[in-house]
Amino acid sequence: MTYYSRVIGTGGYLPEKVLTNEEISKTVDTSDSWIYERTGIKSRHIAGADETASSMAEIAARQAIEMAQIDPETIDLIIVATGTPDRVYPSTGCLLQKRLGVKHAVAFDVQAACSGSIFGLSIADQYIKSGAAKTVLVVGSEVCSRIIDWTDRTTCILFGDGAGAILLTASEQQGILSTHIHSDGEYEELLYCPTSTEQQAGYISMRGNEVFKVAVNTLGRIVDETLEANDLNQSHVDWLVPHQANSRIIAATAKKLKLSMDQVIMTLEDQGNTSSASVLLAFNEGVRDGRIQRGQVVLLEAFGAGFTWGSALIKY
Ligand code: COA
Repeated sequence: MTYYSRVIGTGGYLPEKVLTNEEISKTVDTSDSWIYERTGIKSRHIAGADETASSMAEIAARQAIEMAQIDPETIDLIIVATGTPDRVYPSTGCLLQKRLGVKHAVAFDVQAACSGSIFGLSIADQYIKSGAAKTVLVVGSEVCSRIIDWTDRTTCILFGDGAGAILLTASEQQGILSTHIHSDGEYEELLYCPTSTEQQAGYISMRGNEVFKVAVNTLGRIVDETLEANDLNQSHVDWLVPHQANSRIIAATAKKLKLSMDQVIMTLEDQGNTSSASVLLAFNEGVRDGRIQRGQVVLLEAFGAGFTWGSALIKY
């Protein structure tokens, strides 16, 4: 018997502190209008000094567990996507496992930059479909603010902090219909963050304009690949839940899907790019405010450093 991975819970957490474009304009040479017109971002959340990827992940995960109304002990696998782990090791997955007190789960991290949650969903789906796991928690959690050079106006305007979570369980009912993930390490120099063991400081470095062009083309291709794999067309998709990097990139993907922007879950304006957390934060928002309904088809997609990119088509 092959099982589907069915979504039974979602959660999200955003730190209390909000940093607006106006505030950033006081420290670097930029303006609210430039940032908003080029990116669609107005503000972002910034983690407090005592917050970490695992502390934010815990809050999002507990919300997902509460929604699913399951005993946390039934979780067999915890996957945390993060590019800003608490420590190099133990993994943030292990630290989350400890925080949740889920003794029997296997826990590890996935590092695929902004595509991390989609990679996590893909791994979770393989485990569930193969019968290797029954209930899987996938979390994307990021403190991007700690790997940003706050004097670099080309990157500091873009990113924010937060965590999103999704809980999946094996079901005979449809759930994840397919996932598609890809990588191309050739693009390292366009977007990278050195480790603290390298000579440079550990800040994000990006050639934004070049990243933008590749992202638009690549996300267009992943839409085609996902629909073709399921023998569906654009009209079958009810919602687009995109990675929230730039409103113009998102609009291009929506156009490709022939979706109006009303069918796109947008969190970018108040959250910025929360890297691996962004897709799960947006999915959680759409589920909790009632826009995404049971039985609807939702396309999640992301693109990030590596480059990495991917999609998950979910019948919610
Ligand atoms: N405020 C004002 N001016 C700025 C600025 C800022 N915050 N950041 C850059 N500029 C300037 C540049 O210096 C450049 O000036 P110049 O023409 O005098 O050299 C000009 O604005 C245009 O820069 P450019 O990089 O071409 O702008 P853009 O339209 O490509 O917008 C991004 C920049 C970063 C918003 C956009 O490229 C982007 O979103 N890229 C994709 C990012 C992404 O998806 N990254 C993550 C993948 S997960």
